Amino acid sequence: MKVTVVGAGAVGASCAEYIAIKNFASEVVILDIKEGYAEGKAMDLMQCASLNGFDTKITGSTNDYSKTANSDICVITSGIPRKPGMTREELIGINAGIVKSVSSSLVEHSPNTIIIVVSNPMDTMTYLVHKTTGLAKHRIIGMGGALDSARFKYRLAEALEAPISDVDGMVIGGHSDKGMVPLTSHATRNSIKVSEFLSEERLNQVAEDTKVGGATLTKLLGTSAWYAPGAAVSGLVQAIACDQKKIFPCSTLLNGEYGLSDLCIGVPVVLGRKGIEKIVDIPLSDAEKEHMKASAEGVKKTNDLLEL
Ligand SMILES: NC(=O)c1ccc[n+]([C@@H]2O[C@H](COP(=O)([O-])OP(=O)(O)OC[C@H]3O[C@@H](n4cnc5c(N)ncnc54)[C@H](O)[C@@H]3O)[C@@H](O)[C@H]2O)c1
Repeated sequence: MKVTVVGAGAVGASCAEYIAIKNFASEVVILDIKEGYAEGKAMDLMQCASLNGFDTKITGSTNDYSKTANSDICVITSGIPRKPGMTREELIGINAGIVKSVSSSLVEHSPNTIIIVVSNPMDTMTYLVHKTTGLAKHRIIGMGGALDSARFKYRLAEALEAPISDVDGMVIGGHSDKGMVPLTSHATRNSIKVSEFLSEERLNQVAEDTKVGGATLTKLLGTSAWYAPGAAVSGLVQAIACDQKKIFPCSTLLNGEYGLSDLCIGVPVVLGRKGIEKIVDIPLSDAEKEHMKASAEGVKKTNDLLEL
């Protein structure tokens, strides 16, 4: 199992570290455009191997895509992150050019790869990777919902005063402050609906705190977060590499599912060795359906800014 991570910045390095620590991949290649940066991050991470007990071989490359050849999975984290006060959509001008050139170079050297898109605005960047590479739709996956769901569970556990392991919940829709659709009606604490424990008002607060989860951290850190994003990506990579058939909300090209077409947006999918093996249709409340529709309109508006 060979995994390439493009972008040796905060998210890319965190993602490579979690993949290595989970010890399921034989090789991780980190690539960055900044001279020596990926090599440095790879060497630092390799010096954790004896301390953290992993055998994954991590190497770095400055923009030499021949080193990424025949990767089973490629993760795209290259591009600028937001600064406090910015929306993810504002990153499109710079990141679209980066994601376009990176995705073509990856596919040139790994024609059978599965691509996981992380760079923001993520749903639009995932759509751009489809338009650029023409890879089969099950092989292009946008990571946003896995992270947003982890943030939702964090906020639910906080409100319930319960351990996070007791809580389950999912966020679908666009990976943006307004576009996220936290599925409060489906969230549970040890199989009991959370609405049994929390008032509607408190649940709405949980949903609102979840939606601005990234912005809250960006304000505190001065740049966007990396630990949970890296962990979320590593979860998707592991589900594919180990053929786990786990359900995650991921951004995928829709063709009528959820009443939506010709855009990538977060919906529950089964991840296995083939990538997205199934899109899971779940019943939504009327309010969630309306929210999903508005979210899709927001994603399409950002897609319209792409020069395709
Ligand atoms: N989808 C999500 O849930 C999620 C979560 C967090 C961050 N992000 C996004 O991930 C991206 C990376 O964030 P970060 O905090 O790691 O940023 P960062 O600035 O720390 O790292 C980005 C790296 O990309 C590299 N890069 C730029 N252009 C490149 C190119 N053409 N080829 C190879 N490498 C290139 C830069 O040199 C840098 O090292 C941002 O767009 C951010 O918004 C997405």
